[in-house]
Order: sequence, then C-alpha cells, then structure tokens
Amino acid sequence: MSVSNIEHASPRATSDDFKEAMSRVSYSVSVVSTYFSGRPYGKTINTLTPVSAEDPSVLISLFRKSEITHNIIESGTFCVSVLGEAQKCIAENFARSSDHGNPFDRFEWGTLATGAPYVYGAVACFDCTLVETLHHASHTIIIGRINAILDNSRQPLLHHRRAYRPCAETIIQ
Ligand SMILES: Cc1cc2nc3c(=O)[nH]c(=O)nc-3n(C[C@H](O)[C@H](O)[C@H](O)COP(=O)(O)O)c2cc1C
Repeated sequence: MSVSNIEHASPRATSDDFKEAMSRVSYSVSVVSTYFSGRPYGKTINTLTPVSAEDPSVLISLFRKSEITHNIIESGTFCVSVLGEAQKCIAENFARSSDHGNPFDRFEWGTLATGAPYVYGAVACFDCTLVETLHHASHTIIIGRINAILDNSRQPLLHHRRAYRPCAETIIQ
C-alpha cells in the first residue's frame, strides 16, 4: 500500500534533514587507525559496516580531506577497533583535532598482522588491507579485506541522538 501523506514526511532532503534523521539511527563507535611515516594515526568513526563474510571485509566512510584518509590510502593498511562502553574517553580523544596531540601517546595500543595499531581493550578489532576506494561528495569509502580479528565479550559503546550511550541503556525521548 502506498501512503502519500506520512506523518512528519518531508519532501526535501537537505543536509540538515539528513543529519537529523541519521541521528535517530544507533551506531557502533570505533577508532580507525593506520601506521604511516613512522607513527600511528587514529580517528573516531561510526561508519563501520560489514561487507562480506565469504571474503571477510568491511567498509568505512571517511571525510576525504582528513589526514587519516590520505595516510590509509598511502599505507594500504588500517585497523578498526570497536570501542567498549567504558571507552567513551577514548572516543572523545580520537574525535579531537590533531592540535590536541596524538591520542596514541595516551592510550595503550598494539599491532596485529598489518602493523596498523589497535586500541587495547576494544570489543573487536579488524586488521585490514585496503582493497578498494570510492570517492563520493565529501567522503571516501574504503573497503578493507580482514587479515586478523580480535574479539572479546565486553559490551560495546553506542552513539545515538548525538550522544554516547552504553549498550544496555534504553533510550526513551
Ligand atoms: C561519534 C563520532 C563518529 C564519527 N564518525 C566519523 C566517520 O565515520 N567518518 C569521518 O570521517 N569522521 C567521523 N567523525 C569525525 C572524526 O572523528 C573527526 O572529528 C573529524 O574527522 C575531524 O578530524 P580532522 O580535523 O583531524 O579531520 C566522527 C566523530 C564522532 C564524534
């Protein structure tokens, strides 16, 4: 059945409409990272998406002009560390501009197969080799083939309605 007059339907799709509607979706929170030119780089992201279990792979979407986007393309490797609910502080630090220093100097990290850094204590880590990039508007979509996985039974940190939330929290607004 086609309904033409849905409550709250908007005929427009502006940037603000997009941001408001997308804020209603719950996301995982991760740090994407790479090792380039002798040092680790990392950024907070919410765009981790599984692509295929047949050839284990993920995609992420990064602001095209971010330093880390350039560095991942140059190094050809990256790691995605899915943060746990006790790691909100790590998410906040990796979302700040590089003027505040390198968060990898303050938080523990290690490496898996590729040499890209992962965040200690993360819920899951996906260590990847870059296989494809697609530029669209302001962002670059990066697909990575997974070489190594770490996972544990901790609860993940979520992002919903522009705030970090523990997984168990019920959101009623
Ligand atoms: C919860 C959250 C999710 C984010 N997700 C992304 C993302 O998926 N891709 C992205 O490019 N930036 C994302 N950002 C923004 C980056 O973490 C960072 O703040 C932004 O790229 C500016 O850093 P820069 O000036 O070093 O590029 C997110 C920020 C927050 C707080």
